[in-house]
Amino acid sequence: MSAEDLRAPSLGECSVTSPLPPETLWVEDGARVLVSTDPGELASGSFERAGPRRRIFFEPRAMRVGIVTCGGMCPGINNVVRALVLELHHKYGVREVLGFRFGFEGLDPETDTQPMGLGPSEVRSIHKAGGSILGLSRGAHDPAGMADTLVRRRIDALFAIGGDGTLRGARALHEEIARRGARIAIIGVPKTIDNDVPFVDKTFGFDTAVELACLAIDAAHTEATGVRNGVGIVRLMGREAGFIAAAATLASAEANFCLIPEAPFDLYGERGLLAAIEQRLAARGHAVVVVAEGCSAHLARADRDASGNPSYSSAEADVGPRLRDTIAAYLREAGVGATIKYIDPSYMIRSVPASATDAILCGRLARDAVHAAMAGKTGILVGRWHRAFTHVPLGLVVKERRRVGPDLWQQVLDTTGQPPLR
Ligand code: F6P
Repeated sequence: MSAEDLRAPSLGECSVTSPLPPETLWVEDGARVLVSTDPGELASGSFERAGPRRRIFFEPRAMRVGIVTCGGMCPGINNVVRALVLELHHKYGVREVLGFRFGFEGLDPETDTQPMGLGPSEVRSIHKAGGSILGLSRGAHDPAGMADTLVRRRIDALFAIGGDGTLRGARALHEEIARRGARIAIIGVPKTIDNDVPFVDKTFGFDTAVELACLAIDAAHTEATGVRNGVGIVRLMGREAGFIAAAATLASAEANFCLIPEAPFDLYGERGLLAAIEQRLAARGHAVVVVAEGCSAHLARADRDASGNPSYSSAEADVGPRLRDTIAAYLREAGVGATIKYIDPSYMIRSVPASATDAILCGRLARDAVHAAMAGKTGILVGRWHRAFTHVPLGLVVKERRRVGPDLWQQVLDTTGQPPLR
């Protein structure tokens, strides 16, 4: 990773004095956060630290700001929208905030979707509800058309709240705007229950989703232990990264097998999953299996969603029921009388309001996103990294993938006692 990769783009010189009070905990522009805290990897560089700057790029009272929420639903979106609006309005004195409707579709001139005005009264209690008051959609839209909309509506800064597809779209929009020499700040706020945004140690929505996933695992455990040879199967979201399944497995401490996309496994054979479940039933009389939707190409072939991501929502692509039926058939064949209970909390883990820890994270990300835009930063996301808040260039984010690593996976193996499944 070069110093250039880590440089947060900027719209230009900051010549306006910030309207924030003098006692603000200012962040100097040179303040940095290491990419790696491993002493052997200090040379990998550092990110710019997020936070309020003494001198800013925009004259806030003359500004028009846009907000767009994209991708799948996620707990905390409304918290971020509300905190953006309140910080812009009360702290900086920005009077015009537009909420673009239904994701990038709301910026596409072809669709003629009208934005809504957002002020303190519109956002007063939205953080108590799940979903997004602006609506969401998946899918890319022509960056030139979206840039035209921003220019036509005289937007100075756009906050794009979303996951990897959104951040790719925000990056393309930023490049289009830079090519035109326009001075519009594009700031991403990383949102996904999957927690798979690179260089962000936790996306908002993840904690809430894990809390609810734990309830499903606890229920599966209760069902499995209440009968002779009970098998509880919990199917969770996680198409390319198994963070939800891994974290819920660790937190509930009731799962015996955890299947995620990053850890390939065999179904059949002496060391395969089916034989391991049979052995577990013989030894302990019950088994709980947590399965991430994208864990197995040999159980289900994914479709593609509008953003080009693998999608497991169709009956044909859904790994859960196939695994349940395969386990049932195998145990029947092996002469093991088992009772299988299958639980899929599905969208319930993401369509709820944010938990307390997510709500705190949402507020902080939103306020730092506002400070970043005011200081003329652009083409970045605001993220949490090693517990500090940073500006991560979108160019870097779109190049990398974040996946469950060996350390977290080892914790899962230690907690479950799951044997090698290959
Ligand atoms: O946004 C992430 C996510 O919740 C994934 O975990 C899941 O695979 C996907 O969205 C499903 O979303 P949808 O059915 O809305 O496309």
